[in-house]
Amino acid sequence: MKKVIARSPVNIALIKYWGKANEQLVLPTTTSVSLTLTDLWTETTFEEGSFNFELNGKQADSNETQRVKDVLKHFRDDRVHIKSKNNFPTASGLASSASGFAALTVGLNHFFQANYTLQELATLTRIGSGSSCRSLVDDFAIWHRNGSLTSITNPFEDLMMLVVLISEEKKAISSREAMKITKATAPTYSQWMKESEQDYLEIQGAIQHKKLHQVGNVMERNSQRLHQVMKNSLPPIIYQQPSSLAVLNLVKDARKKGLIGYATMDAGPNVKILIQKSQLSLWEDLLKQKVKCRYLVSRIGGKAHAE
Ligand code: DP6
Repeated sequence: MKKVIARSPVNIALIKYWGKANEQLVLPTTTSVSLTLTDLWTETTFEEGSFNFELNGKQADSNETQRVKDVLKHFRDDRVHIKSKNNFPTASGLASSASGFAALTVGLNHFFQANYTLQELATLTRIGSGSSCRSLVDDFAIWHRNGSLTSITNPFEDLMMLVVLISEEKKAISSREAMKITKATAPTYSQWMKESEQDYLEIQGAIQHKKLHQVGNVMERNSQRLHQVMKNSLPPIIYQQPSSLAVLNLVKDARKKGLIGYATMDAGPNVKILIQKSQLSLWEDLLKQKVKCRYLVSRIGGKAHAE
């Protein structure tokens, strides 16, 4: 019996996507830039059979199933049994939809031998989750405003990411809903778009010139700008919790003491810290000493693939 297994890493944005210029085509209002996390992934298996979608060992709910069907209808057949699971704690508030849809699209392409190009796959996977298209490429993935996907070679050999799990509860408001509210109500949204585009241009240069400090600074600034424009929405959207802010301060203080690390946050309270591998144990000591919550450690790189 035919069986395909697809795997996709999670991706974390250094320059954030937060709003659609075109809802149907899922075209973003700004360019975003991300890195994939090698050790946090979704694995999805595809077998012949009547359509069924299982997520983490359970029948998926109707909303999740519909999003899968929205992608599946672009393939020639729908007789496929899909089972998807994440290797990271599901309720960890990580963007599992990005790795999930990237694995789904790449796996369906292989299963039905559809031979879609990378750009076509990006267009399809965006239907499920916009940011998922960035898991289709390795290195620094760039999702442009016109929808195209490119990448810049990662010149930093020894990057890692720490994911500090502030809360493992499901988020109160999905990014899909929240970004709509911000775009419609935040008086500073167009200003945010302009600044985000500047951040993109600056980080692009910093990556090309291998300036880690500048990459990190722009990444932190871009995350702060995102959470500011979220707060300017009506009603305000607040994902940061007091313990998130404590970790952000910890990172800043650690830098003053010579550690290298930069923090970013998405649509949830968890904090991701981009660090150098050579300092992993120093960071782990610091987290164990000062932060009571659990954290995950991942290498950087990789992309969605199927066999
Ligand atoms: C804060 O890709 O989950 O993680 O396209 O509506 O499915 P939809 O949204 P999604 O949004 C991710 C938002 C973010 C920033 C980012 O990853 O760029």
